[in-house]
Amino acid sequence: MTETVHATDTFPYPQQRTCPYDPPAGYSAMREAGPLIRVTLYDGAKVWMVTRHADARRLLTDPGLSSDRAKDGFPIVTPRLLEARGFRTLVTMDAPEHTFYRRMLIPDFTAKRTRAMRQDVERLVGESIDELLAAEPPVDLIQGFAAQLSGRVIFHLLGVPGPDQALFTQRSMRLLRAPESPDGVAALAELVAYLDELVASRAGEQDTWLLDRLVVSGGELSRDDLVRMAVQLLVTGQGTTAQMIALGVAVLLENPALLDELRRDPALMPGAVDELLRYLTIADMAGIRVAVEDIELHGQMIAAGEGVIMPYALLGRDPDAFPDPDRIDLHRTGNQHFAFGFGPHNCIAQGLARLELEVTYGALIERIPTLRLAVPSAELRIRDAADMQGVHELPVTW
Ligand code: HEM
Repeated sequence: MTETVHATDTFPYPQQRTCPYDPPAGYSAMREAGPLIRVTLYDGAKVWMVTRHADARRLLTDPGLSSDRAKDGFPIVTPRLLEARGFRTLVTMDAPEHTFYRRMLIPDFTAKRTRAMRQDVERLVGESIDELLAAEPPVDLIQGFAAQLSGRVIFHLLGVPGPDQALFTQRSMRLLRAPESPDGVAALAELVAYLDELVASRAGEQDTWLLDRLVVSGGELSRDDLVRMAVQLLVTGQGTTAQMIALGVAVLLENPALLDELRRDPALMPGAVDELLRYLTIADMAGIRVAVEDIELHGQMIAAGEGVIMPYALLGRDPDAFPDPDRIDLHRTGNQHFAFGFGPHNCIAQGLARLELEVTYGALIERIPTLRLAVPSAELRIRDAADMQGVHELPVTW
C-alpha cells in the first residue's frame, strides 16, 4: 500500500518524554503524519524520518544507508554527538571495515558461547542480589545493583582478573554516571590505561577470554584497536543493560498482574524479556543513518547525502507490526522488535543481554518478593530527550 508523503510537514526531533516507559507522546502525531516525514534537528537541519516498521526493516539492510557519523549529512541530533563525530567504533563503521572488526568479535557471542555463560551469569546475579540485600533500603536499583551487575558480566566476558574487578567497576561506574564530566573523562582514561596494560601483559598467553582471543586471533589489530574494542563493549553494553534491568523491573512492579503471571509460569520469562525489550526499546536513537545513494520510498526520493532517522521506539509501537502495541502481552508471538536494531549493526551481544535480563528478573522476583518502588513512578526523573530512554535513578525498597 502506498501512503501519501507530506514532505513539507516538519516536527522537531528529538522529542521530550513524559513517561519513563513510553516513547515521547509526540510520536503518535508523527506516525499519523505519514510513513516518511521531515523532522528538524536542534541546528535547523531537516532530515527524513521513517515511521513504518516494514520500511525500516528494508532500509536497515540497504547498503545505500551509511552509519558513518563523519559523513556529510549524517543527522547530528544533539550537540554532544558533534564532539564524538570522529570517534570510530563498530557502530559508526560501514562495510568492509565494519565487517572486518565485527567478525573478530562474533565467536564470543555465538548462541553456544552464550549458553555456556549461563552458570556464570547466574552466579554474578546471585552475588549482586546478596550485596543488594545487605544494603539498607531504599536503594537506587541502577547504581546499587543493575549497573554493577552489567559491568561485572562484561568484565567476566573480557577476562578482567577477579582482583581487578572492583577497581574496574568503580571506574566504569564513574564513566557511566557522567560520561562528559571531568571525572567521567578521567575514568575513561584510567580504564583505557588499565586495559592497555592488560592487553600487553597477556599477549598470546591463553585463549580463555575475549581479550585473549582478540590478542591471538586479531594479529592484524594494533594494541590501540584492541583496547578500543574492549572499551566499546563496556560503553555500549553496561548502561543499556543496566537501564533495561531497572525499567523492566519497574514495569513489572507497576503491573502486578504481569508479575503474578510470571510467578505462576516462569516458562513465560524468555517471551516476557522480549516483550519488555519491545515495549521499552530504550535505544530509540540507534537507528540513525545517512543515504549514500538515492533511495526511493513511497514515491519520494531520499537523495544521497540526506539524513534518515528510524526511531526504534516509535517503530516498536507500530500497530501494523504489533497488534495492540501499547499493551504488554507476555504471550506475543513474532515479536520482531528493534530493541537491538536490525541489519549489519544489530546488537552483537543480544543473546547475552537476553540471558542476563532473564536471569536477573527471575532471581529478583524469586528472592525479593516484597520488592517495590520507593517513590511513585510519576516522581522518577526521566533522562534527557537526546539520551537513551531511562531514568536517572530507580529508588526501591523491600
Ligand atoms: C539490554 C541491553 C542492550 C540493548 C537494549 C542494546 C541495544 C543495541 C542496539 C539498538 C544496537 C544497534 C545499533 C544500530 O542499529 O546501529 C546495539 C549494537 C551494539 N551493541 Fe548492544 N545493546 C544491549 C547490550 C549490549 C551488551 C551487553 C553489549 C556488550 C557486551 C553490547 C554491545 C553492542 C555492540 C558492540 C554493538 C555494535 C554492533 C555493530 O555495530 O555491529 N550491547 N546494541
